[in-house]
Amino acid sequence: MSLRTTKWCTLLLAAATAATAKWIVPGARWYDTEGGLVNAHAGCVTVDRESGKFFLFGEYKVEGQVEGGGISVYSSEDLATWEHHGMALEPIKGHQYISPEHIIQRPKVVYSEGTGKYHMWWHADNSTYGWLLQGFAQADNITGPYSFVDATRPLGNWSQDFGLFTDYKDGKSYALYSNGDRKEARDVYITSYNDDITALDKVVHRFDKYDLEAPTILQTDKSYFALMSHKTGYRPNNVVAFRADSLSGPWSQPFIVAPLNTRTYNSQSGYSLRINGTKKTTYLYLGDQWDSNSLWESRYIWLPISIDEEKKSLKVEWHDIYDLDIKTGEVTPITGTSYSSTLARTSGTTYHQEASFTSSGTIATSIAGNHSTLTFHNITGAGKPQYITLYYQNTDDMGFGDQPGGTPDRIGGTWQLRRIASVVVNGERGKAVSVYQRDTHKGIVLSATVKVELREGAGNTVEVGGLWNGFDVKAADVERLVVYPPQE
Ligand SMILES: *[C@@H]1O[C@H](CO)[C@@H](O)[C@H](O)[C@H]1NC(C)=O
Ligand SMILES: *[C@@H]1O[C@H](CO)[C@@H](O)[C@H](O)[C@H]1NC(C)=O
Ligand SMILES: *[C@@H]1O[C@H](CO)[C@@H](O)[C@H](O)[C@H]1NC(C)=O
Ligand SMILES: *[C@@H]1O[C@H](CO)[C@@H](O)[C@H](O)[C@H]1NC(C)=O
Ligand SMILES: *[C@@H]1O[C@H](CO)[C@@H](O)[C@H](O)[C@H]1NC(C)=O
Ligand SMILES: *[C@@H]1O[C@H](CO)[C@@H](O)[C@H](O)[C@H]1NC(C)=O
Repeated sequence: MSLRTTKWCTLLLAAATAATAKWIVPGARWYDTEGGLVNAHAGCVTVDRESGKFFLFGEYKVEGQVEGGGISVYSSEDLATWEHHGMALEPIKGHQYISPEHIIQRPKVVYSEGTGKYHMWWHADNSTYGWLLQGFAQADNITGPYSFVDATRPLGNWSQDFGLFTDYKDGKSYALYSNGDRKEARDVYITSYNDDITALDKVVHRFDKYDLEAPTILQTDKSYFALMSHKTGYRPNNVVAFRADSLSGPWSQPFIVAPLNTRTYNSQSGYSLRINGTKKTTYLYLGDQWDSNSLWESRYIWLPISIDEEKKSLKVEWHDIYDLDIKTGEVTPITGTSYSSTLARTSGTTYHQEASFTSSGTIATSIAGNHSTLTFHNITGAGKPQYITLYYQNTDDMGFGDQPGGTPDRIGGTWQLRRIASVVVNGERGKAVSVYQRDTHKGIVLSATVKVELREGAGNTVEVGGLWNGFDVKAADVERLVVYPPQE
């Protein structure tokens, strides 16, 4: 459900940002080196054993298509600049398991010393999730093409959301999988592979009846942390982690890994990465920000994780923009200039409303269409493309009238995952940039980042209005604007 305006803006932005990126901008649109959207969802990042390069594998989704797009692959040296290598696993029409109507989800790729090949494993299913299998394909080269080997039931049982973990201490690999929604299931398994990673060996641990999914494990010198999400479809929720000294347990109670009510910054777990830098070992959370209104527009929420071994806890830490030095492992948050909405002018119905939860005590609300807007004046720009971030509150609480079972937040509300703001720089409405403002909670302020072009020096205006999002023309409430320096 994407609008003409939105699509048009996307193209425009693509042209402006095809240049290489080194900063990681969670939730922004990510473009590859050819200007295409990075299209690899719910996948993994595998380090090539020879080149040390990172390879991103994930579900390939195009507009209007839900499942069966196959698995795409990208490479990068800095986890920010991505080169597309096409499809790693192409669906095959009429194939028993990887036909375009089938589910080919959550791919993971690992190198097998035994076979000398790269092995891809994924959640293989039919469109109604009736098979609950694990798919297996192999390739000589990391980028593929991967050839289908088999799709099997894990040790004769069921498998849904799929993850894979390799222990850096002994090189052993493990499959992680939730086993589906039926009453007898609702568990998450850690099951070891055989040495060649061609078949499963034995169950190492079962997280019994927590009814979680999207598992990933990260390993520190002392601990294993298993991260998983609750089951709320494409809507985000509070991701939790368990800790243990050993994969077989005992595992701790689950605990929430991000500030409450941010729904893990509107993301779902799926993968994690350990960067063994020369100065610091850095752990990254590689989450998905699903967009169920238009799945192909889903975003990536990649963030550093801080771990406190003493307290046996872990936190995913938000940054609008950060620089990750792959060699040293250091994360440097980028700082920008903040402009409070209290100083911005309103038009139409837009007004400054009392809001005890913001630092200024107000928030600009009732922003809609091009008639009720909020305009920040005298914004200093750099004269080249640069990121700006809107700190916003979206109070819709994701009521969902289109699915049975109600919602934790609201019963029978209108299903609205996000509002869309329109950002107009210096009055040039024809060049408006859309900002997707995902649901927050009432009283929760989150941020959304886009790239714009401001004139050099002070005196720019940034006007925030609303765009039709399939339901409404209202934009979310705006607390402040942050302008980041351009990337050198
Ligand atoms: C999926 O597989 C299950 C189990 O074999 C079957 O009951 C169901 O009808 C299948 N769904 C479709 C769409 O073929
Ligand atoms: C595999 O990679 C090597 C080296 O990068 C290349 O020479 C070769 O053509 C590739 N093979 C295939 C089948 O793509
Ligand atoms: C299959 O999975 C169910 C649910 O986790 C479990 O109770 C059962 O023991 C498993 N069966 C086998 C043979 O492992
Ligand atoms: C981490 O990197 C250091 C060198 O930078 C190396 O000595 C060490 O073996 C690495 N550890 C792991 C677990 O990869
Ligand atoms: C404002 O939006 C309406 C459609 O909602 C459009 O007809 C009108 O031209 C727009 N005005 C400006 C100044 O962009
Ligand atoms: C505009 O911004 C500049 C630089 O921040 C500042 O020196 C100037 O006083 C501002 N002007 C107004 C009218 O706010």
